[in-house]
Amino acid sequence: MKEIIDSLNWRYATKSFNGDKKLTDNQLDGLLSAIQLAPSSFGLQPYKVIVVEDQKVKEQLKAAAYGQAQLTDASHIFVFAIEKNFSEKHVDSFIANIAETRGVAVADLKGFSDVMKGTVNSRSAEELDVWNSRQAYIGLGVLLETAALNRIDACPMEGFDNAKFDEILGLQIENLHAVAIAAVGFRAADDVYQHYTKVRKAKDNLFIHI
Ligand SMILES: Cc1cc2nc3c(=O)[nH]c(=O)nc-3n(C[C@H](O)[C@H](O)[C@H](O)COP(=O)(O)O)c2cc1C
Repeated sequence: MKEIIDSLNWRYATKSFNGDKKLTDNQLDGLLSAIQLAPSSFGLQPYKVIVVEDQKVKEQLKAAAYGQAQLTDASHIFVFAIEKNFSEKHVDSFIANIAETRGVAVADLKGFSDVMKGTVNSRSAEELDVWNSRQAYIGLGVLLETAALNRIDACPMEGFDNAKFDEILGLQIENLHAVAIAAVGFRAADDVYQHYTKVRKAKDNLFIHI
């Protein structure tokens, strides 16, 4: 427990990254594994994560993120993009994955499949987008905590033009839509924000014990 709380105190939304310090392949792969293992409703994982390392693409993204320096100075930009037009087709592909992974017949998963399809079909396109975004944000949270535990810095960000990100990264064509991003790398020694005391609600104002 102490290690996790220490890491949550260590982390902060990094504003200024050391542009010379890059994630190692091992660190990057560890972060990808953590996101891969993040829970999601039913296990559907209705999003993809675009990992941007290319400096020219990062420059374009910075322009679409109101010039925020994290976009070019961080080692990698993780773009969480929800699956649009979520439908029975996505459920079928999840069912196929379960069948293959666990060695069970698709027919034996019909009950579970029907429950998921019922949920998907009962929601409007807008509701599905919100639902899928929630799952993506769980992945974002897992990324932030895993990074912190490994003393890797990150800045979660919503301050960007979603439509422009979709355009730059060619997401529409893949039926994806960017909802949140994280700049990931290593803090600059002179980033003053690392010294700010955390401002949080007092526990008696945040938790209700019944
Ligand atoms: C969903 C989300 C969106 C955020 N968007 C931005 C952003 O666009 N730019 C930025 O510099 N910080 C952004 N932040 C960072 C928050 O301002 C920061 O997490 C909050 O002030 C708490 O500070 P701390 O993370 O340093 O403890 C965002 C955080 C979250 C969780």
